[in-house]
Amino acid sequence: MAAKDTFPDARETILVLDYGGQYCHLIARVVRESGVYSEIVPFSITAAEISAMRNVKGIILSGGPQSVYEAGAPPLGRGILELGLPILGICYGHQLIAKSVGGRVERARKKEFGDTNIFIDRPAGILRGLGKSIGAWMSHGDTVLGMPKGYEVTAHSANTPVAAFMHRRKPIFGVQWHPEVVQTEHGAATIRNFVVDVCGCKSSWKIGSFAKRSVDEIKATVGKGRCIVALSGGVDSGVAAALVGKAVGKHLTAVYVDTGLMREGETDEVERAFGSTGIDFCTIRAKERFFRALKGVRDPEEKRRVIGREFARVFEEEAKKVNADFLVQGTIYPDRVESGTTGKSAVIKTHHNVGGLPKGIKFKAVVEPLRDLYKDEVRKLADELGLPKAIARRQPFPGPGLAVRIMGEVTGEKAETVRRADHIVTEELEGAGIAEGLWQYFAVITGTRAVGVKGDARAYGDVIALRALESRDAMTAKFAELPWQLVRRISTRITNEVPGVTRVVYDVTDKPPGTIEWE
Ligand code: XMP
Repeated sequence: MAAKDTFPDARETILVLDYGGQYCHLIARVVRESGVYSEIVPFSITAAEISAMRNVKGIILSGGPQSVYEAGAPPLGRGILELGLPILGICYGHQLIAKSVGGRVERARKKEFGDTNIFIDRPAGILRGLGKSIGAWMSHGDTVLGMPKGYEVTAHSANTPVAAFMHRRKPIFGVQWHPEVVQTEHGAATIRNFVVDVCGCKSSWKIGSFAKRSVDEIKATVGKGRCIVALSGGVDSGVAAALVGKAVGKHLTAVYVDTGLMREGETDEVERAFGSTGIDFCTIRAKERFFRALKGVRDPEEKRRVIGREFARVFEEEAKKVNADFLVQGTIYPDRVESGTTGKSAVIKTHHNVGGLPKGIKFKAVVEPLRDLYKDEVRKLADELGLPKAIARRQPFPGPGLAVRIMGEVTGEKAETVRRADHIVTEELEGAGIAEGLWQYFAVITGTRAVGVKGDARAYGDVIALRALESRDAMTAKFAELPWQLVRRISTRITNEVPGVTRVVYDVTDKPPGTIEWE
């Protein structure tokens, strides 16, 4: 959230210094999974600022897209290595430590990307118990070729002589690979070794502690102010509302905006679910203004911006009615990392609850209590807060709604087509008991038209894509290998029941290289 973190409590913390790597946040998450609180801070944090924080037990330097020799490459802050805190460098962080202490870092002759065999030469420190070799995820252009006196090389690969190092006396470690990604064997164990064995943390942090601390932070930020929360019906905004509700009680108003781009039955369901939570709740029916604003807009990013802007305007109007000073949003970490708001990572797409807000917004601040969490952490928090299952288990739905599942201009007719197709997908996958194992499942109107034959006559109509994915956190995803019979039934139903559709295709693209939504 917007408030500056001052570490008021005495919980043990591992700091992750963000050098802009796409997987930076996974490091904090894996640390938290080992039961220790972790916080991401900009790489520019100073040694004095770290010293002023209470109970920092260790520091991890993340990966990053740059070369340590590039002009303007983010440096290791002066004095950080000398703080005496345990420190682990990952990928760019590994190279940065090596360069800072006088090691040899050069442009790799053979770059390594993807799964790489790592040979463990000394199974000590963070590499304890990992065996003789592991398959590890690598992605680097620079390579550490040698370390100075006092350091020991603990692992190598075919092309990287110093794939891992440790100091002989001090708790300083580096690994060229990415232990934070699931593709790396024993990655979580490596990070746990650092956090528990090296840093001596106790492993007692739970998501419930997050709730308590978050409520305290919201109270401190909002004071006696009034809040308005944007409810989408999904788990993120629901949990954000519940947290803020705990903190400010009657000073919270929850607004659900029916943009006309919602799924079948969504508005009724949200009204039913939130009607019973005791939160002051209202529905704004704003379909006409959203469709008017979207008229003629075809570019995906522009669509997101238009919807974000319209959303913000609706909220401003409602906020004025209740004199709200703060806007609460259910932004989670992947929304921020892909919108490029976390530092040096690249913009993938502008999530409407992140980049879509106009500059002139009239709130004192935007409160985003879930901004550092992943979806599965949010679901755990929903259970912890006792939210109805209908909300806690709801599949994610993007802020811009069906608009990002309609390629090209959004019209009422296309919205109706994709909504009906989507409803069939949901009915079939939920009816078959398959939905629970999936991250998301939906229909997309592709913007391509194709010829078909219906009732012995030529038909020319829309091509609908079926998308179903497995994922843990939406950062990466695999298309689901659905049973063909089920795919056939969905296809038959869509082409029979949804007017104007002549064809259904199945999207067999993972993320990366695709994204989950089409726009
Ligand atoms: P992508 O398409 O970026 O989606 O792979 C990742 C996850 O985020 C959801 N998504 C959004 N959520 N506002 C949101 O709150 C948005 O603008 C937005 N765009 C995508 C998407 O459904 C998936 O779960």
